[in-house]
Amino acid sequence: MCGIFGIVSNQKSINIGKIALESIRRLEYRGYDSCGILSQYNSKLFVKKDAGKIDDIHKKLKLDEFPNGSKLALAHTRWATHGSPTKINSHPHLDCEDKIAVIHNGIIENFIELKKELLSKGHFFKSETDTEIIPHLIEENMKTNKNLKEAVANAIKKCKGAYGLAICHADYPDTIIVVRRESPLIVGIEEGKTTYCASDIPAFLPYTRNCYILEDNEMAILKAGTAEFYDINDCDNPKQKEIQLIKWSIDAAEKGGYEHFMLKEIYEEPSALRRTLKIPNDSLNKFAEIILSAERIYITAAGTSFYAALAGKFIITKFLGKYIEAIECSEFKTQLINSLEENSIIIAISQSGETIDLIEAVRWAKEYRPSAKIISITNIVGSTLTRHSDNIIITQAGPEIGVAATKTYVTQVLTFALIALEIAKLTKNESQEEIQKYYNALYSTPEIIEKFFEKNVELIKYIVRNLEKNLNFFFLARGISIATAKEGGLKLKEVACRFVEGYSAAHAKHGPISLIREGYPIIFIAPPDETYERLIGNLMEFKSRGGTIISLVVEDDDKITNLSDTTIRIPQPGDKYHNLFSPITFIPALQLLAYYAALEHNLDPDKPLNLAKTVTVH
Ligand code: F6R
Repeated sequence: MCGIFGIVSNQKSINIGKIALESIRRLEYRGYDSCGILSQYNSKLFVKKDAGKIDDIHKKLKLDEFPNGSKLALAHTRWATHGSPTKINSHPHLDCEDKIAVIHNGIIENFIELKKELLSKGHFFKSETDTEIIPHLIEENMKTNKNLKEAVANAIKKCKGAYGLAICHADYPDTIIVVRRESPLIVGIEEGKTTYCASDIPAFLPYTRNCYILEDNEMAILKAGTAEFYDINDCDNPKQKEIQLIKWSIDAAEKGGYEHFMLKEIYEEPSALRRTLKIPNDSLNKFAEIILSAERIYITAAGTSFYAALAGKFIITKFLGKYIEAIECSEFKTQLINSLEENSIIIAISQSGETIDLIEAVRWAKEYRPSAKIISITNIVGSTLTRHSDNIIITQAGPEIGVAATKTYVTQVLTFALIALEIAKLTKNESQEEIQKYYNALYSTPEIIEKFFEKNVELIKYIVRNLEKNLNFFFLARGISIATAKEGGLKLKEVACRFVEGYSAAHAKHGPISLIREGYPIIFIAPPDETYERLIGNLMEFKSRGGTIISLVVEDDDKITNLSDTTIRIPQPGDKYHNLFSPITFIPALQLLAYYAALEHNLDPDKPLNLAKTVTVH
């Protein structure tokens, strides 16, 4: 996830630098670890870029000051994926001659092979990024064909992966070329005057509401006030595209038309999962090998990441056959001060990579047992956690702006599941065929969630309205679903200010059940796994005391459905493969429940009371 912006104009008095700067500020929610702006003037490219927040870089570099008379600019705000957030890795990236510039949102999956090929042809690279291969590929193509459009198309056809790209050339003073595959790209037009491109509409919304939305494998040639569209495989015949009129406010546009970031981010879960499913095998395999080699394994985290750890622990131990302890990071040192062994493996998990209690836990572990290995799962490249880790995996959720963690949770659990299946491949305790069935179930998670969104939102709103007066809830489950109960409960507490006991359904009869009165709402998380029959017993204990039972079940469930007042059906099979990954597919229902409950109580779900997105105090 990065934000890209481009502008080409024929307006005499236009201040290209100022517009580019304001536009990437409006895209900063897409990525904020570094930024860069380029303008083109007199067959030269002028680049200003650095690591950090846009406003800090602007103070240092005056990002809006470029040669007078410049009519073309590209601008980028970065969310690092390949290469840490440094000045060199910031976009734009240029070819060997500093003539061709590229800004990119996405990931070029085959960049290592392409880079090798280009190095062998004498190209030299300045950054660690995947993006930098693109200007060099175009440069290589232009050695034999001076047509920029064809050179771009030929270069892009060699790239696998996802890209929203904006490209310019010092010798083509009035042209930006944009290409899209999987990553969004929109072209905005002020007819006859100025053309814009961006990865999201808010970037150019103050200047125009007329836009074209690029489809996969489309390319556009942008000149001042005009745009021509092509299929990447047919650059000779322009395509007709329909112009669209955008009616959103800037605020709504930043949220992709959703009322809140929380809702947008819940709906982004399928795409976040699809990106995370593409985490390269070698980094998953490395984690699997380290875990397999360890005597003692701990997972540590805070809040939502800790609940992802509970689900992850369950999934990994299934294939590992060894005990893993999950400890909240604030308790890590206190609990292990007398027992952390040499060569322990600590899996640290954090969306931000900055949670202070977690950083302290890993620092302490390294000081106390220098032979301990820290392997981390985080969403933020270059975060403090990554600097204290021996190995890292970056989840591919993209920036999460809503304070309540949503899409990052599902990507964390998915990452654990991917590591677990690598472990299964190495231990060979399961047959290849069996492992493939688990993979198939994992690959189907984005689609299950999409289908769930299609059919169930009105039901969730209805449940929320019916529970409007209730202040206290139980979320109960057994086995792996206890993680779902705890995480779902945390969401309702955070954003809707309701008290929830997310608890083991079996353990609840050892005390908490004494709270139950007529109408007390209890949500049972009930995939048909090995705990299902016993969960029915627990459900009956609560039902017979007057509890109102709402259950989360799979599509063809009947037993628990017949015993419940309301059921929410997750459209997935109830086999053991899908059940194991139900922490991913069941949680969106509870996230939406929390979201709509917040609205019902006139609370802003993006700004829960007393909370900060990143907790950097003890
Ligand atoms: C809950 C939430 C917090 C975080 C916790 C850990 O919605 O956002 O509970 O999960 O503060 O944060 P990270 O994962 O950044 O270490």
